Amino acid sequence: MYNEKVMKVFADPKNVGEVENYDAIGTVGNATCGDIMQITLKIDNDVITDAKFKTFGCAAAIATSSTATEMIKGKTLDDALKITNKQVVEELEGLPPQKLHCSVLAEEAIKAAIEDYRKKQGA
Ligand code: FES
Repeated sequence: MYNEKVMKVFADPKNVGEVENYDAIGTVGNATCGDIMQITLKIDNDVITDAKFKTFGCAAAIATSSTATEMIKGKTLDDALKITNKQVVEELEGLPPQKLHCSVLAEEAIKAAIEDYRKKQGA
């Protein structure tokens, strides 16, 4: 059901775990399936220098989180906020339609983490 690229990323995901001494943390649940995703970020001068994820989710959630965390590294917070689940899915060359909701988890967790960071900064 998954394409080759998704299977490859799922089999060898990047950025699994938790960033040491993270500056921001975002945890979200998926309304459709109840799965959970946590993203931690290291932020330096408004730029994301490291990103890691942990998930109780399916293969699609793992593949999209791996890809999304790779995409936001080196980006400013504003640019990271512009990344959509659609772009992540495109990067993975597509997901089965019934799995598209899984890709929303990473996008939402990134947004939650950035919000957490900005709140802590008092911005
Ligand atoms: Fe829950 Fe994919 S089925 S994240």
